Amino acid sequence: MKIIDEINRLKAEQHAIILAHNYQLPDVQDLADFTGDSLELSRKATEITADTIVFCGVYFMAETAAILNPDKTVLIPDLHAGCPMADMITAGQLRAFKAEHPHAKVVCYVNSTAEVKAESDCCCTSGNAVNILRHYEGQDVIFVPDQHLGTVIAETLGRDLILWPGYCPTHARIQPRDIQELKAAHPDAVALAHPECPKPVRMVADQILSTGQMCRFAKESPAMEFIVATEEGLLHRLRLENPEKIFHRVSPFAVCPNMKLTTVEKVLFCLRNRAPQVHVEEPIADRARRAIHQMLAWS
Ligand code: 13P
Ligand code: SF4
Repeated sequence: MKIIDEINRLKAEQHAIILAHNYQLPDVQDLADFTGDSLELSRKATEITADTIVFCGVYFMAETAAILNPDKTVLIPDLHAGCPMADMITAGQLRAFKAEHPHAKVVCYVNSTAEVKAESDCCCTSGNAVNILRHYEGQDVIFVPDQHLGTVIAETLGRDLILWPGYCPTHARIQPRDIQELKAAHPDAVALAHPECPKPVRMVADQILSTGQMCRFAKESPAMEFIVATEEGLLHRLRLENPEKIFHRVSPFAVCPNMKLTTVEKVLFCLRNRAPQVHVEEPIADRARRAIHQMLAWS
């Protein structure tokens, strides 16, 4: 295909690498050098030797890559690919919340702006959240912005967390009956739900897992059939890696419109134009980097 050849030519010319999140469109995932969940992508961003990173995901992910690679060019194919959950708390709101709880540590979900990360002691992803919070045993902790992931952590560890009422609008569209109806039709299917799903959905699922954990679970499980309660983009990778297994889409509404803004054509344009680029100004980047490095050190 001509467009892929041209992308590959520009990639070689610019020493570029393409990273993609598991929710990206299938042809974007196929194009990427590496596809993963937020934790895997953050780790990958610390190992990059290429000069240019094309980040196919949403803005906070590209921003994290830029914070970890201040000397590299980070391109995002569509500047409008934001995350509504990340925008549910501003740095000013977090500062005011901290003032209400002056002794509390702050852990922020990586789905947050650089400014919010800069106000935090540590970041986490859905793949390492419970383990990160083990490091704060016996201490008051503010957790932002996802109330649902925060509740999963609190329930798993049997502790309280001071939660911010943010949520993912895409996972909020998944209903418990979506899983119940699929289970009734496919009684052997194992229901996997992302921790961003609201509690009534999580309660009817068999496993609560990040997208990367879902990939590992599906591969290692003897089960042959799965209900996948997360954004539909993950189905492509699950089906590709497990051609003999069956994966049911939980709902036609579990689509993140921001993740779908990235297309193969936009990848080509951004490499051709070396734009849009993602920059994070120091000292915000410096403070946010500390919170990300703390997470990586504990993961
Ligand atoms: P993970 O891929 O880390 O599970 O994150 C899900 C998500 O919503 C990213 O925006
Ligand atoms: Fe944000 Fe939800 Fe989309 Fe992930 S799926 S980018 S949390 S809106």
